[in-house]
Amino acid sequence: MKFNTLLFTLLATSSVSLFAQEKNDFIYANMETVNAKFLQQENPNSIQILSSKDGISAIYFHPTIAESLHGKFAHGHGYIFQNSKEEAVQSLHKTVLQKKAPFNYTITEQTFINEALNDVDVKEIEKTILMLEGFKTRYHTRQEANDAILKLKEVWEKIIVDANRQDIIIKTIDHVNTPMKSLILTFTGSGNKDEYVIIGGHADSTIGWSGDQSFAPGADDNASGIATITEVLRVLVKNKFVPQRTVEIMAYAAEEIGLVGSKEIAEKYVSQNKNVIGYVQFDMTNYKGSAKDVVLMTDSYCDTNLNSFLMQLMDEYNKTGLHQFTYDTSKCGYGCSDHASWANNGYAATLPFEAKMSDSNPYIHSKNDTYATMGSTSTHAAKFTKLGIEYIVEAAKTTVLGTNDLDENLSKIYVENKLLNYRFNNNSSYSIQIVDASGRELITLTNKSANGSVDLSNLNKGFYVAIFKDTAGKTTSHKIIIK
Ligand code: BES
Ligand code: ZN
Repeated sequence: MKFNTLLFTLLATSSVSLFAQEKNDFIYANMETVNAKFLQQENPNSIQILSSKDGISAIYFHPTIAESLHGKFAHGHGYIFQNSKEEAVQSLHKTVLQKKAPFNYTITEQTFINEALNDVDVKEIEKTILMLEGFKTRYHTRQEANDAILKLKEVWEKIIVDANRQDIIIKTIDHVNTPMKSLILTFTGSGNKDEYVIIGGHADSTIGWSGDQSFAPGADDNASGIATITEVLRVLVKNKFVPQRTVEIMAYAAEEIGLVGSKEIAEKYVSQNKNVIGYVQFDMTNYKGSAKDVVLMTDSYCDTNLNSFLMQLMDEYNKTGLHQFTYDTSKCGYGCSDHASWANNGYAATLPFEAKMSDSNPYIHSKNDTYATMGSTSTHAAKFTKLGIEYIVEAAKTTVLGTNDLDENLSKIYVENKLLNYRFNNNSSYSIQIVDASGRELITLTNKSANGSVDLSNLNKGFYVAIFKDTAGKTTSHKIIIK
């Protein structure tokens, strides 16, 4: 009896101090107004709605209560972390200006992409998913989260060191609002290096608000996305990819607690006036829940032009026969992943997702989010890897070398047995240059006839550009591949 009273007193005091502790754990955030109001009805003491505008509210609340949104709505507990009351309120009133007009999408890199898609390997994707799941948890405050980031850094470093790519750099990024680091890999552009083409995904995991984050495998959410972008990297490097725009691949810290890592990074890019021409997020790519393969999210955070570009890419590369992807659209209903951080800072962003929202992996944010519950295969994620490659290669090209005003006269151009064959329908003479992907001149010939060939036997396998100029100064350039 006495023991019971003691126990009761202990429990009572501890719950009082727990409540005090909870108050200390209140944070500022933004959330959809409907969700905030729902939470307020359920837990009036744990949330304050500071102000609302256009369907979004600035709130001061205890994040554990957001868990109840998870079951009620088809999706998670979405809120975006804010540093202070001022920021939470101001962000409602910030008019986000699109930083740049959407770039002019063209699809011209079939030669390179057809080769690269063949190299996508489900076993490589599997290896990365299992490696990350093997850390048991990547919850942002746990040591394992940074261990996983450092291990991923090693994997990325090995890819670039083995290929002797000194032009590619990898950096860890420290954050203000989480001890976890993010990782950024940069291919500096050989042409317009101030224009950025970026893909990313979050590297952290969670099992919701249970408190015990010691086992949060996060295989689909989001080891799958990190494995997808890691395979994009491996295949691009294997194919000696040199972009004209700068290409970056990012693995973020602390997405699960309100997009913390990506928010700090996107804000830094804006403050440095960086011109990000397109951002594509890979978050959950390996659970095939719907009939269609790739589901493009169409929330307000998702750029319509970018979505239609991704659709065009799938159509184009379906035609090559190298894949047959079907696609669909759906909505998260809120800024459900790191692409929202880029959109909130005025950049074109989107999220190609594994399934319709309502068909997505039911095991996320639980101990059952494992490779096994995705059927122990990476075939679904491989589709997203291919889309990622198509996006990067097509979006990161800029220079159409010259104006191609000679094209109308060009009646044939092809490479066979290391010989470039061409024919122009006139009697001009031509100068011909062969340059590599970074623009280095390897062969220069003058006074060539309108119908002829160029010996390429001294060149290694890879991708080159042939530039022709006639006596009137008109030019045309064509990508060629030496096998
Ligand atoms: N991968 C999820 C987002 C997601 C889940 C998208 C299910 C589509 C279907 C992401 O890691 C996540 O959990 N996001 C949070 C929101 C974020 C702002 C903290 C969520 O959905 O609750
Ligand atoms: Zn999540």
